[in-house]
Amino acid sequence: MPEYETFDYDVLVIGAGGAGLRAAIEASAAGVRVGLVCKSLLGKAHTVMAEGGIAAALANVDERDNWKVHFADTMRGGQYVNQWRMAELHAKEAPDRVRELEAWGAVFDRTKDGRILQRHFGGHKYPRLAHVGDRTGLEMIRTLQDHGVHKGIHVHMEHTILSLLKDGDRVIGAFGYERERGRFKIFRAKAVVLATGGIGRAYKITSNSWEYTGDGHALAYEAGAELIDMEFIQFHPTGMVWPPSVMGILVTEGVRGEGGILTNKDGKRFMFDEIPEAYRAHTADNEEEGWRYCQGHKDARRPPELLTRDHVSRCIVREIKEGRGSSHGGVFLDISWIKSKIPNSAEHIKRKLPSMHHQFKQLADIDITEQPMEVGPTTHYIMGGVRVDPDTQMSRVPGLFAAGECAAGINGANRLGGNSLSDLLVFGKRAGEFSAQFAKQNSFGEIRNDQIDSAAREALAPFDRGDGENPYQIQKDLQELMQDNVGIVRTESEMQYALGQLQQLKQRANHAAVTGNREYNPGWHTTIDLNNLLTVSEAITRAAVERKESRGAQFREDYPEKHEPFSKVNTIILKARDGSMQIRLEPLPEIPDYLKQVIEENR
Ligand code: FUM
Repeated sequence: MPEYETFDYDVLVIGAGGAGLRAAIEASAAGVRVGLVCKSLLGKAHTVMAEGGIAAALANVDERDNWKVHFADTMRGGQYVNQWRMAELHAKEAPDRVRELEAWGAVFDRTKDGRILQRHFGGHKYPRLAHVGDRTGLEMIRTLQDHGVHKGIHVHMEHTILSLLKDGDRVIGAFGYERERGRFKIFRAKAVVLATGGIGRAYKITSNSWEYTGDGHALAYEAGAELIDMEFIQFHPTGMVWPPSVMGILVTEGVRGEGGILTNKDGKRFMFDEIPEAYRAHTADNEEEGWRYCQGHKDARRPPELLTRDHVSRCIVREIKEGRGSSHGGVFLDISWIKSKIPNSAEHIKRKLPSMHHQFKQLADIDITEQPMEVGPTTHYIMGGVRVDPDTQMSRVPGLFAAGECAAGINGANRLGGNSLSDLLVFGKRAGEFSAQFAKQNSFGEIRNDQIDSAAREALAPFDRGDGENPYQIQKDLQELMQDNVGIVRTESEMQYALGQLQQLKQRANHAAVTGNREYNPGWHTTIDLNNLLTVSEAITRAAVERKESRGAQFREDYPEKHEPFSKVNTIILKARDGSMQIRLEPLPEIPDYLKQVIEENR
C-alpha cells in the first residue's frame, strides 16, 4: 500500500454546516480530540442559505407557545410518520439551543422589549422563528465557527470522503482526498459523525449548493447503515424561476411570513381555492384576516400562503399546469402590495428581507418593494436519511453517528420551515456528546490495507478510461430524469421508467472518463459525486414506489389519497449482501399516551 498521510482523532466529523460544527463543538467540549472535514471552505456550508429563521418555542412574541404546541405542529406537518421521540426532543431542547447561540454571540432581531424576535412560518401555530433578517443561517454559521475555532478543532477544508473504514461491524475512520491537490488521506477515528447535508443536486431545479450530492447518505448506506423515509423530498414552493441561470435559488418563506401573497397571471390569490380539511380551522378565509395575522394579531388565523410547503407547491404546480402561470413558468409572489397597508413600506421590506431585496435586484433586476417576484417550486430538502437512535444519533452501525439533513426521523413526511436549523443545533449537540462518549469507551480499530487500496483504485479509475463518457453529461441526464419522473407529482409508470434508466446511468458512470491529473480537476470530483447521486436517486425512487399513497411531500397521481396502512410504517433501505438495494416497510414506534394527549390537545 502506498504511504498516505494519516490523522488520528477520537471523533471525526464529516461536514461543517450547522450540525457538523455543533457536533464538533460538543465533542471537543467533552475533552476528546476532534477532526472536522468539509467539502468546501469553512464558513461556506449550505446552512448559510437557510434564510427565514430557527424554529423554537421561546414564546417571546406569543406567550401561548410552548414545546407541546411545537411538537404537535411538527407531528401534524410530518403527517404522523415522524419518529415521535426525535420530535419531542427537538421541541423541548430547541429553545435552549437558540439561547445558547445568542450567548455565543449571535445577533438576533429584537422585539421592542429587547427579546429575540420571532416570525410566522408555514405550519407553525404561533410566531416561532428566531431570525436575523433573512440571513439567519449565515449568522448561525458565523457564530458556531467563531465559537468552534477556540476549541482546538482540527479542520480539513476542501476534502471529500470516499469511503468509511470498518473493523468488523464498527466504523473506525474514513478515507478521502484533498480536492485541490488530489492527495489521498486516511482519518483514523474512534467515532465518526456524518453531517453532510442533503441531496438536492440529484434534481435539475434545486435551492441546494454544489456540495449537496448525498455524500453522507451514500457513505452510510455503503457502510451498512439503514436509510429511512427516502421518498419524502421537500419541494420548497418559492424558488426563483427567472432568469434561467438562477433558477431554483431560494426565495425565503419569510416573504410570506411578512405578508407576501401568491397570485396567478389573472391577479387571483389562488391559495384561497383549496384549504385542506386538517388546517381549515387555523386558516384565514379572507385577505384582511391573513394580513392581520402577519401583523401579529392573536385573534387572526394564518393566510393560506402559510400552509405547509407540500400543499403550497402543489397549488402552484396546478396553476402553472392549468395555464394560469407567469410568462416564465412560475407564479407571482408579491410583498410590494403592503404599501397599501403601511407607511414607508419600502424601508420596512428592505429591513425585514435585505437578502431578498438584494438577490432580486442583482440577479433579476426586480425591485421587490415595487414589483412582484416570479417564483416556482424548487427541490429544497430531503426528510429521509440515515436511520439513527433518537437520543444518541448513532446509526445501526457501531461508531457511526449522523445529524442534520443527512439523518432522518424528526420530520416524517414533511418538514416545517425553520425546523431544520433547530434540528441542526439540537441533534448536532447530541451527536457530538454521544460520539465523544463512544470514543472514550472504544479504542482505535485496525485499518485494512485492502479497504484503502480498493477505494483508491476505484477513485482513480476514471483517469484510465481513455475516451469514456463525460461525467457532466451523465449528471445532467440524471438530474433531468429525477426532475421529470420522481418530482412533485409521481406515478408508478414514471418511477419504474426512472429505475430502469438509473441502471443505465450507473453503467454509463462506470465508464465516465476524465483527462488531466488529480490537481484542481472538477471533472474528476464529478465522477465521485455521481456515484453518491446515483445511490440516493435509486433509494428515493424505490421508496417512493413502495409507498403507494400520497402523504406530505409524496404526491402520487395514481394514489392521490392517504392510505391508512401507510400511516403506520416507514420505508427502510439497506444494502444487501449481494450488493443490491433492499427495501422493506417497518412499523413506526408507538407514540406514548402522554404525547398522544399533547397531539389531541393541540389539534
Ligand atoms: O424559506 C426559508 O427561509 C427556508 C427555511 C427552511 O427551509 O427551514
